[in-house]
Parts: sequence; structure tokens; C-alpha cells
Amino acid sequence: MRACIAGWGSAVPEGRLTNADLEARVETSDEWIVERTGIRERRVATEDETTASLAIAAGAAAIKSAGITPEEVDQLVVATATPEQPIPHTGAFVGDGLGLRCGSFDMNVGCAGFIYGLVAGAALLQAGNLRHVLVIGAETLSRIVDPRDRGTCILFGDGAAAVVLAPTGDDGPGILGWDTGCDGSATGLLGIPAGGSRLPATSDTIDEGLQFIKMQGQEVFRRAVRAVVDSANLALERAGITAGDIDWFIPHQANLRIIEAAANRLGIDRERTIVNIERFGNTSAASIPLAMTEAADAGRLTDGDLILISGFGAGMSWGSAVLRWGRA
Ligand code: ACO
Repeated sequence: MRACIAGWGSAVPEGRLTNADLEARVETSDEWIVERTGIRERRVATEDETTASLAIAAGAAAIKSAGITPEEVDQLVVATATPEQPIPHTGAFVGDGLGLRCGSFDMNVGCAGFIYGLVAGAALLQAGNLRHVLVIGAETLSRIVDPRDRGTCILFGDGAAAVVLAPTGDDGPGILGWDTGCDGSATGLLGIPAGGSRLPATSDTIDEGLQFIKMQGQEVFRRAVRAVVDSANLALERAGITAGDIDWFIPHQANLRIIEAAANRLGIDRERTIVNIERFGNTSAASIPLAMTEAADAGRLTDGDLILISGFGAGMSWGSAVLRWGRA
């Protein structure tokens, strides 16, 4: 049995944060941001919008698109680095909002989270003979970005996107191969220092801004290209195909230069690479499904297409998957 994508949906806040808005806040320029990252604007949640509310909207759209009812979802996976709150897990809020009573868990693997969630969801579907697994990537990164840190505040945005996994036959569409990995010696490159057991939040940690994301951008950049290329090649090999066979490369949207460098090294041209970073920035675990659902809604993905998705992020962690597009 294989797991295919039987439905999809997305939800992004209406609020937009443009490069011009950022120019008024920190010492930066539209020209610098576009040249170094490819980003022109990001979506930003209002006070009333949260990771769970965006995830619920995306999940409901995916359930509708799959033509099923919430009762037919047997497992929920929410990939997020910006949970609703530390306890309980975001999946509990999302499941309640969607009217689910099935099991749920969160996948906190930064920007690689959606791929981990997809792979775990597919494995559960296969092992448990489940009817459907709902996998959602959802983030409100605007809540964890230091508005004064120009190295990070220009990058991140909010949004959510979801897919419904359903079983298909051995030769049907679905996930053909995948790879996940993590080099935990690089935990210091990207993260939120305070608020966990290592450094519980205190008024001092708040004063020092340690509740915000800290990143060594250049080093993350350097490792990201290598991680994406090596991981993508492993997933392709396991799927028994090469980059030349790929119809669409849907990479994590972190930086246009990372996307272009990775695609170039993989030998995948720009026409086959899906990019929407200019309008959403880096939405972490939501970025790959957001780009995928947008391409699907635009009719760019055709049944039978071979798709390569690949992401990397905090950890440093990474993951890739090859799938054949199409419903059961
Ligand atoms: N505007 C203007 N100048 C800036 C800005 C800005 N917003 N940010 C940094 N600079 C300056 C720096 O201070 C530096 O100035 P200096 O030379 O006088 O010291 C200069 O620009 C170059 O800085 P770099 O950090 O070398 O710039 P770089 O080209 O590497 O771009 C960036 C920075 C965009 C952050 C890039 O490193 C990057 O995208 N890294 C990867 C980030 C990423 O992909 N993260 C993904 C994981 S996220 C997750 O898992 C949640």
C-alpha cells in the first residue's frame, strides 16, 4: 500500500508585511532584502489568529477537497515550530476545531517538519490500515521573531497548509521514496534559547530577548544547500529515479539563493522549480505544503507528475520525499 495526497488546502492571514514596512522599522532596504533573499512581502497573523486557527482553516479546506468528513480522518499530524502553547500539543486544539476525535501529535522539526509529518503520517496509514491521515504544516513565526533583529525579521511569515493522505495500491500515486536526517551538533545555529527546560523563561530572559529566534544566517545558508542536495539525492535514489525524471521540485522556501543553488546542483531548471517565497517569506513547516497546494490549485500539478520536496531547518534537520501526484 502507498499513501497518496487525496486532498489539500491552505490558509494565510490577510495581513501583509512588505519590505517597505520593514524599512521603517529596522536599518534595511527593499533592494537588500530582494537581492539577498528574494522576499517582497510576508503574511502576518492578527492577534486573533494563531497557529491552531490557521491550521484549522487549512485542515478544513483539505478535508473538503478530499471529499471526506472529519469522522473519516483517523490520525492528525501538525508540523509546527510555533505551537499554540507549550502544553497541550497544537494537534489537540486543531483536532477540536475540526471536530476530530482521532489521535494527534505535533512534529517539531523546524522547517523540515512537514516532510517528517508526511513520512510519519504515511507510515501510520500503512501500519494501521487507516482510512485517512491529515498532515498540516502551520506557523505564526511573527510571534517568535525579534522585530529589532534585521537578520531574522525580514525572513519569516505566517501561514498554514494541509494535505489528506489516503491509501492507494502498490503502483498507485503517492510517496515513492524519502530521506530524513539531523545533525544535532548544530543546534546552536538556529533556535529559541529560553522557554524550555534548559533555560526556563524568567523576567531576565525576557529582558535579554531570549524568547526570540536567534540564527547564524551565513552558516545555516552554507549547510542548507548541502543538506538539501544530499537528502534530495538519497530520496531520488530510494525512489529509483533521477533528478532528470522530476517534473516539479518544491523546496522549502527559505531564501531564493538557497533554492537556486540547490536546484542548480541537482540539475533541475527554474521552469521545474516551484517558488512563492516573494509573497510569503519563510513560513517554516508551512512553506512546502503552501507552495505545493498553491501549485495544485493553479493547475500546475498534473496526475502522474513526479514531485521532489526537500526542506531543512533548525536542528540542523532535513528531509526530502519523492511523490507521484494523483488521488487514489
Ligand atoms: N538589511 C541590510 N543589511 C543586513 C540585513 C538586512 N536585513 N541583515 C544583515 N545585514 C548585513 C549584515 O549586518 C552584514 O553587514 P556587515 O558586512 O557590515 O557585517 C551584511 O548584511 C551581510 O550579512 P550576511 O549575514 O553575510 O548576509 P547574507 O547574505 O548571509 O544574508 C540571510 C543573510 C538572508 C539571513 C542569509 O544568511 C540566509 O538566508 N540564511 C539562511 C537562513 C535560513 O534559511 N534559515 C532556514 C531555517 S529557519 C527554521 O528552521 C525555523
